[in-house]
Amino acid sequence: MILILDFGGKCSRIVGRIVRESKVYCEILPHNVSIDRIKEKNPQGIIFTGEVKEEVNEEIFDLGIKAIGLGSKNKALNEKYGVKVYENETYTDDTKKIINDFLFEECNLKPYWDMKEFVDRSIKEIKEQVGDGKAICGLSGGVDSSVAAVLVHEAIGDNLTCVFVDHGLLRKNEAEEVETFFREKFNMNLIKVDARERFLNKLKGITDPEQKRKIIGEEFIRVFEEEQSKLEGIGYLVQGTIYPDVIESGGDENQVVKSHHNVGGLPEDVNFELVEPLRQLFKDEVREVGTILGIPEEAVHRQPFPGPGLGVRVLGEITEEKLDIVREADYIFRDEIKKAGLDKEIWQYFAILPGIRSVGVSAGKRTYNYTVALRAIYSIDGMTAQWAKIPLEVLEKISDRIVNEVEHVNRVVYDITNKPPATIEWE
Ligand code: XMP
Repeated sequence: MILILDFGGKCSRIVGRIVRESKVYCEILPHNVSIDRIKEKNPQGIIFTGEVKEEVNEEIFDLGIKAIGLGSKNKALNEKYGVKVYENETYTDDTKKIINDFLFEECNLKPYWDMKEFVDRSIKEIKEQVGDGKAICGLSGGVDSSVAAVLVHEAIGDNLTCVFVDHGLLRKNEAEEVETFFREKFNMNLIKVDARERFLNKLKGITDPEQKRKIIGEEFIRVFEEEQSKLEGIGYLVQGTIYPDVIESGGDENQVVKSHHNVGGLPEDVNFELVEPLRQLFKDEVREVGTILGIPEEAVHRQPFPGPGLGVRVLGEITEEKLDIVREADYIFRDEIKKAGLDKEIWQYFAILPGIRSVGVSAGKRTYNYTVALRAIYSIDGMTAQWAKIPLEVLEKISDRIVNEVEHVNRVVYDITNKPPATIEWE
């Protein structure tokens, strides 16, 4: 394995993905990790990434492990410690070559990290961990929780129960699709909870975005706990935590799971042992595992969708009428993006209801109706984003369809702001 010692910035992840794409397993650890931890990992090579500003623990160089540094600001690594350092601020094919030369020539590694093998090994490990125990999994319909659930189901079958909470903030047809998919295709134990009214009632009159998020997250936990308490003998909680979540929460020393990345934030204080089969995987690897397990392409390549769902896309107070509008507009947007063949290249695309109304004209009569906003972005990991340059004729078609097919809408606008300074979601 290769150890990437991260001195900050995003490049450690890019390097990590390049190493994994080259079929070599790697882990990213913070630069100040203890020497014992490094020894425990027993890496065949070390890559320093980020800007090495502080002193490096010199004991690392006594371990006799091959090392390189990436990044032009890391000259000190070479001057002080004799580590070979390469160029660049941006990651190009050259970077890939440098990394490949390091892996296969200097460290003498062979490509071995393979997702088929991962699936077999993971099923074995889950069987060992859970044995005859019973597990529960919260499904959101998202890629990570779906792949984790199917993988665990392969290992323990009917001893896994999945809970899917329909909070009424999902996209058009989504609840039905999730249900059909898990029940019919994978024959899994699935409890679907229709909590739509309950969430709407809780959200009545609430306009503050953070308060909305908090209510949705808390209510989700309540519903999940209620369902779980009806089941007997559950000892394990399956989570779709993936490697970027692990890195963000400080590497594998720190088992805290960021609630942002979970299904609305599952209970943290329950007495379950966690089963997190995807903890080692990057998103593209999770997708590959999903495909190997027979999950259909459209589910595996599903765009990210926030836990609070349409709740953060209806700005201000959430009402059923507003949800219906945003849901229909979003459906048309997705349909046309797919028809235009742009669904793979655009990272995320969705409709927002900003809650403003404006004057329009329809069949010679004045209207006073809602404006729908469209947001589509290119991104790699959601940390930064560029607005997507959708062809104007596609935008025109989408706009025409929305104002013609969605009631109470007479205007469509397109968001042309990058992140930063805007965020991807509007709330
Ligand atoms: P922002 O809006 O922060 O979004 O630029 C970055 C990415 O995260 C998603 N997102 C969320 N995901 N719970 C989630 O699970 C949330 O509360 C949440 N808020 C934003 C967003 O869709 C984008 O992919």
